[in-house]
Amino acid sequence: MGAFGEGFAPFYSHGRHHDPSAVGQNQAFIRTIARGGAAPKMSSESYNEILPVYDAKTVSSFDKYKKIHAASIADPSKYWGDLAKADLDWMVPFDDTKVLQGDLTKGDVRWFAGGKLNVAYNALDRHDPDALALIWEGDEPNDIRKLTFGEMSNKVSQIANALKAKGVKKGDVVTIYMPMIPELAMTMLACAKIGAVHSVVFAGFSAEALASRIQAAKSEVLITADHGLRGGKNIALKYIVDQAMEHITDKDLVKNVLVWGREYKEGSSEAPYQMKPKDVRMDPLVADQRPYCAPEPMDAEDNLFILYTSGSTGMPKGLVHTTGGYALYAKHTTKTTFDLAPGDIFACVADCGWITGHSYVVYGPLLNGATTFMFESTPVYPDEGRYWDMIQRHKITQFYTAPTAIRLLMRYGDEPPSKYDLSSLKVLGSVGEPINPEAWRWYYEIVGRSECTVVDTYWQTETGGHIVTNLPGVTPMKPGSCTLPFYGVDAVVLDPATGHIVEPDATGRVEGVMAVRQPWPGMARTCLGDHARYMTVYLKPYPGYYFTGDSVQRDEEGNHFITGRVDDVINVSGHRIGTAEVESALVAHPGIAQAAVVGKPHDIKGQAICAFVMLRNGYEESDDLIQELRLSVRSEVGSFCSPDMIIVTPSLPMTRSGKIMRRILRKIVAGETDTLGDTSTLADPSIVDTLIDKVGISD
Ligand code: WTA
Repeated sequence: MGAFGEGFAPFYSHGRHHDPSAVGQNQAFIRTIARGGAAPKMSSESYNEILPVYDAKTVSSFDKYKKIHAASIADPSKYWGDLAKADLDWMVPFDDTKVLQGDLTKGDVRWFAGGKLNVAYNALDRHDPDALALIWEGDEPNDIRKLTFGEMSNKVSQIANALKAKGVKKGDVVTIYMPMIPELAMTMLACAKIGAVHSVVFAGFSAEALASRIQAAKSEVLITADHGLRGGKNIALKYIVDQAMEHITDKDLVKNVLVWGREYKEGSSEAPYQMKPKDVRMDPLVADQRPYCAPEPMDAEDNLFILYTSGSTGMPKGLVHTTGGYALYAKHTTKTTFDLAPGDIFACVADCGWITGHSYVVYGPLLNGATTFMFESTPVYPDEGRYWDMIQRHKITQFYTAPTAIRLLMRYGDEPPSKYDLSSLKVLGSVGEPINPEAWRWYYEIVGRSECTVVDTYWQTETGGHIVTNLPGVTPMKPGSCTLPFYGVDAVVLDPATGHIVEPDATGRVEGVMAVRQPWPGMARTCLGDHARYMTVYLKPYPGYYFTGDSVQRDEEGNHFITGRVDDVINVSGHRIGTAEVESALVAHPGIAQAAVVGKPHDIKGQAICAFVMLRNGYEESDDLIQELRLSVRSEVGSFCSPDMIIVTPSLPMTRSGKIMRRILRKIVAGETDTLGDTSTLADPSIVDTLIDKVGISD
């Protein structure tokens, strides 16, 4: 018998389909907790520890999860092989005896190799052409476009033929630097249709950052649009692209720059931007093409896309996702985690410049034949009711955003969401960083009216899709915890020192680093042109395991709590930022001798960027200098990486061998100066007090 009676389980919250009496009890329970009172039969006072009120013995679907999960781990080839056959259309079937080849030790993982398929065909052409595939809402709420699968399929074919006409072939890397308009999704799918490998660069990155990604990928074609719009502001993408072209050292590398014109009118001969010799106007070129393009048969292990992401050292790495495994994983996680049903309007408000946009705006929903909702603007434009207004107007059923947005919107109180009819919602998703229980509760109670499941989805660019998450109506919710591993994911907690699996202590809890023991189909296979780096970062630290780079605590019920990165990666508003990139932008200024960048806890953004800089002789601290440093970061990386705090210091905490101890800087900015740890290895321990003073003053 559960604490609230037979069969009751708050984690069964599931839209309007579940037992209303259970909802009532659940709300009462949450209110009890919210008032700070203890729930019946529960000893702990922590909200965090007492929400998962369930009795596993009486909950058959949770039992079922355990069984399916165990089976998927015991025989991954069977689990994923069966699904791949059922969920994807294959041109050439894969060999049943070779579903999974290779392993994590050797780093040669292959799924369904030999089978052939096309992801664009699976995402568009195979579905009912009259069903709604995409709803787009632009920066202005009245700027709406709707496309059926048939319309999208035709246009994608036209774009694919346009790419072919410009010489793009199977295997070529096409860089995409575009605003969140339907053409972005369709350009990605057009690449997939002809077997070109897309590399989407987030349109918030600067000209320099774009140039370095084009060069690293040896990409000969760049696709952009004249401009983006965000919060009423015009972002001159084509102008940034022109600057990026100047930064590319190999002037012959890029052959064509294909430019979409947002306000293009059929037949118009004027480009709304300055044409350069390599520029090609995309709209008339596409309009000239036949709306049919045969899908290119791709091997399941052919590259589908690359996506640059930040690591702890060096410049960003181009992670490579392949065709069959990624498609299956994106499809299956979307369907399962969000309990997708026919007719659902699935809204993930992430940008396609990040992995969340790839897997849960474009590939996952469309592969399922669901309607995907694509959003160009911000959560607070034209006002802080924007999300809720969209949910009401479009009858959105699943809504997926990041904790930073939830924390921001919470600040405006309960009134904005309460003004709208949000009853279409069934599942609310969170991604990108740990969600604090307070924000979780607001999302659950105020946005979801305590009737929706909140899924806290933990994953990474590298994992292709969710690897740890609760599942609506199947596994428990727990505020602050991403809970249990997804099917087929053999999640383990390792001791960072020994690399061994951590055994539970007397309370059943474990703490360590998050790793995965077996390959899963959605995992990235390599770093473009640098397999050694892939091995070094992910597979060699703990041989036999995929290493996430995150630290984790697991409770006695098996729920995971991600506690942060173990490396120098910073997570600002759910954007993953490498310290090395920001530091190199700072030292690019002639006045800076050394720079160290760390994350500082921030109420809304999760982390804020805090930079420490040492000046060269002849330079002095001034407002102008600080301004120049900010500009340097904006132009080298992008304005979303601009430091919140820049502290000029006479020196940095370094070991005698010259290594900067960021751990100490992190503690100082967090105000945790009583737990600085051992500072005796510093070349000059007195710097610590100087820095504490400096940080105190600038706070
Ligand atoms: C963090 C985004 C806690 C984590 C999909 C990971 C999370 C990094 C969660 C990957 C979550 C993402 N709970 N932490 N639900 N989701 N993270 O590659 O540190 O941009 O390693 O992928 O974000 O960021 P990335």
